[in-house]
Formats: sequence, structure tokens, C-alpha cells
Amino acid sequence: MKKKKIVVAITGASGAIYAKVLLQKLAVLETQIQDLAVIMSDNAKDVWRYELEDESYKDFNVKFYDKNDFMAPFASGSARYDTMIIIPCSMGTMGRIASGISNDLTTRAADVILKERRRLILVARDTPLNLIHINNMKTITEAGGVICPAVPSFYSKPKTLEEVAATVVNRVLDLAGFEVDSYQWGEKETN
Ligand SMILES: Cc1cc2nc3c(=O)[nH]c(=O)nc-3n(C[C@H](O)[C@H](O)[C@H](O)COP(=O)(O)O)c2cc1C
Repeated sequence: MKKKKIVVAITGASGAIYAKVLLQKLAVLETQIQDLAVIMSDNAKDVWRYELEDESYKDFNVKFYDKNDFMAPFASGSARYDTMIIIPCSMGTMGRIASGISNDLTTRAADVILKERRRLILVARDTPLNLIHINNMKTITEAGGVICPAVPSFYSKPKTLEEVAATVVNRVLDLAGFEVDSYQWGEKETN
């Protein structure tokens, strides 16, 4: 299996725990990864501190890029990053991607991934949805992106908030092409 060059962007939607669980799982999957780059918006840092009551994103041994660093390698298609995951993805960031407004590194990197026809996964989070959100989801889907809403499942009987978040994160890892051992309906029972 070819090792992945992957960008993870964390935005200011509710659900910092999804980003935390993803970063934990990517650390375990490091043998499948060539490069892992992480971007956080200012709101993402605020929401992380508010919801998780810590700054544990600083504990992950990953390369963080400033949200305005347009010199980052994945701001250009020639760097050949193959996958980008935005988790959680705010409606604001989704709207800017759908409109092609590449005014920060996250939206520029997403624009690049779409133009290079590579895999973009948006773990969109808000409820309820208005027609603008729904149209933006349609636009991004038509452009080749995958909308994977932050909607957990419960048939694996998760016991903790981390296990609930993992029901979404495992789907994301699967969509991103990682080989993961997670619950499959009708098969084994693990998180
Ligand atoms: C505690 C908190 C929770 C939020 N939850 C959401 C949410 O679930 N979805 C959303 O689209 N925006 C949410 N927002 C608003 C976004 O943070 C805001 O729209 C911001 O401009 C998004 O910017 P970013 O995409 O650059 O991070 C939340 C804000 C706060 C403070």
C-alpha cells in the first residue's frame, strides 16, 4: 500500500473531540503515512479549549502549519498530497470552499485537492441545516469532495464519548483509504 500524504484541517465547529480521536488514530497508523500536516483555525483552538478544557492538540507529534502559510507545500498541487480531511468542518469553511474563496491555508489546500482530483473529506457539523448549507454540500460533492457529516452511530454500543466520536472517525479513515480494524455491521464487535 502506498503511504499517504495527508492534510488534516481543524475548524471551529463543535466537535473538537472528533479531531482529537482522529489525531490519536493517525498516530497508531503512522506506518501508512508518509507526511501528516495539520492546520487549525483560531476558532478551532477556541472551541477545543472550551469543549475539551485543555490544549492537548499541542501534545501531538505532528507538523502544524499556520492558517495563513500559503508557502506550505500542500498549497500547491505539485506537492502531490493525496488526501485532506477537515474535521470538524464549520459551515463557514464549507461555504468558502464551495465558493472557491481560498483566503486561508485550509480553503486553499481544499481547492488544490479538488482541482487535482484527489480525496477531500469534510466532516461537516451543524444542525439543523439551511438551504445554503445543503447547496454547498451539493456543490462540493459535484466537485468530487465527500461530505461525511459528524453523525455518530450507536449500533456498536459505544460506552464513552471517545467511542462515540470513533464511530465517525473510523468511517473517515475508511473513506481516506486507511486499513483500519473497526466495527462492521454484521461482522465483529469492536470500536
Ligand atoms: C463553542 C462553539 C461552537 C460552534 N459550533 C459550530 C458548529 O457546530 N458548526 C458551525 O458551522 N459553526 C460553529 N461555530 C461557529 C464557528 O466557530 C464560526 O462560524 C467560525 O467563523 C468558523 O471559522 P473557521 O471555519 O475558520 O474555524 C461554533 C462556535 C463556537 C464558539
